Amino acid sequence: MKILVTYYTKTGNTKKVAESIYQALDKNDKELKSMKEVEGIEGYDLIFCGFPVHAHSVPVPAQNFLKKIPPSAKVALFSTHGAQREGQMPKEAIRNAIGLVKSEVLGSFTCRGEVEQEVIDELMNRPEHRAWAMEAGSAQSHPDSADLEDAQFFAKNIVRKAVSFTDFARK
Ligand SMILES: Cc1cc2nc3c(=O)[nH]c(=O)nc-3n(C[C@H](O)[C@H](O)[C@H](O)COP(=O)(O)O)c2cc1C
Repeated sequence: MKILVTYYTKTGNTKKVAESIYQALDKNDKELKSMKEVEGIEGYDLIFCGFPVHAHSVPVPAQNFLKKIPPSAKVALFSTHGAQREGQMPKEAIRNAIGLVKSEVLGSFTCRGEVEQEVIDELMNRPEHRAWAMEAGSAQSHPDSADLEDAQFFAKNIVRKAVSFTDFARK
């Protein structure tokens, strides 16, 4: 199975998660690239796509990438966000991302990612962002080792799922 792990990142959090996912894919034919570095998006069986939640949703460069994925590739999504993991926002951003993908989405993973204090201070003054900006202080030091371990567990499960789908399709 040919697997691409790709990510969009501004401050490095989503890249850390991408690297952990990549490490978890031990024996597969795998590549790790930022979305900017991906030249041809054809020929992959499975693509892990990661992005930070920006303004409650998917940043535009990641939206453009998701729209370009060919239907032949299965997709798994991951994201990092300042808000708490249990809230609606991370789920909503993933739902928005799923809506942009033409192919099958096998699953998703989200975890918190540290937010720069300047960003928190600025967004605290904007009513539409205040709720998550108030939570964002406690995202400090995320993604942490437990988040990265969870991401690896997620990645291994997705690969298992992708393999069983492929076996089923061959039968
Ligand atoms: C411009 C901007 C907008 C953001 N909007 C949100 C948001 O709506 N909800 C949220 O939970 N986090 C938000 N964040 C926090 C980021 O999602 C979080 O820090 C993420 O881990 C950053 O990932 P990166 O380091 O890969 O860029 C925002 C950050 C920035 C810089």
